Amino acid sequence: MKRRELLRTALLSAALATATALVSPLDALAQEKKFTIGFSQATTIEPWRAQFNKDIIAEAEKHPEVELIITDGEDRTEKQVADVENLIRQEVDALLISPKESAGLTGVVQKAVDAGIPVFVLDRNVDTDQYTQFVGGDNKLIGRAAGEYAVELLGGKGKAEGNVVEIWGGLGTQPAHDRHEGFHEHTDKEPGIKYLLDQQSADWKQDEAYNIMATALRNHEDIDLVYGHNDPMAYGAYLAAKDAGREKDIKFIGIDALPNEGVTWVANGELTATFLYATPGAEGLRQAIKHLNGEKVEKTVVLPTMKVTKENAADILKNGF
Ligand code: FRU
Repeated sequence: MKRRELLRTALLSAALATATALVSPLDALAQEKKFTIGFSQATTIEPWRAQFNKDIIAEAEKHPEVELIITDGEDRTEKQVADVENLIRQEVDALLISPKESAGLTGVVQKAVDAGIPVFVLDRNVDTDQYTQFVGGDNKLIGRAAGEYAVELLGGKGKAEGNVVEIWGGLGTQPAHDRHEGFHEHTDKEPGIKYLLDQQSADWKQDEAYNIMATALRNHEDIDLVYGHNDPMAYGAYLAAKDAGREKDIKFIGIDALPNEGVTWVANGELTATFLYATPGAEGLRQAIKHLNGEKVEKTVVLPTMKVTKENAADILKNGF
């Protein structure tokens, strides 16, 4: 072979190799959507839910073999039930659901299970254990950590004193009950702690919490600490206290610790503390894919938490958790 010809052959085979690499059958397969995964989100109006969706979408982008369909229950049980029925009809390979409330969504989760669809329950529970896996934070543990800190803020173990306003999340959700019970495991041991409200729920919403707190402030001269089952509610209570000129007398504890919300409010000295409640978006999707690939998954995956106070808030804002 002449030198020129040799060069041409070499170039040609290099080009061919590249072309083959680009369209190799293996690659083509990887580009194909192998799994369709449906995710039924309870609502998107709350900031934590918006973050949750961002997390699951970012994870899905790392898996070209997955087609992710996200529905929005618009904070209404009937809408979310209809969404899940739709996903069942589309014969998704796996269903992820973060239910608005337990009782109203249990039936349709069971329906998906009966249709042979593996179900991953995220963050809020349903009243059956027939699902493949639950992924979420340990709300009892978080409640306990909040209660322990409240006792410390009110004077310490055995001598804590003060009037507490607790603002509940949605009464039909397990996280609200777990956050309540965990908290009271510590605070109920303190005879000096008094509770000013009787199971008042703001359904996780800032504006509803503002109203509950505004009434509490009118009815009670002394309020020492507010425990909101999430940060938006703790912050709503803070704003009500601020409008009444009483925010300096009160400690505010919340849960979620989104960087642009809870952590920032703590860094600003508006909330006293918040506790991380990581969204199960990325982990939930990873687990579902793992299961669809035939790997074994645990029945429960618990996401870690962390206390955020003025001491570490700025650092978390700078470097993340
Ligand atoms: C968002 C939210 C969070 C809370 C979680 C509990 O809808 O209210 O703020 O931590 O749900 O399920």
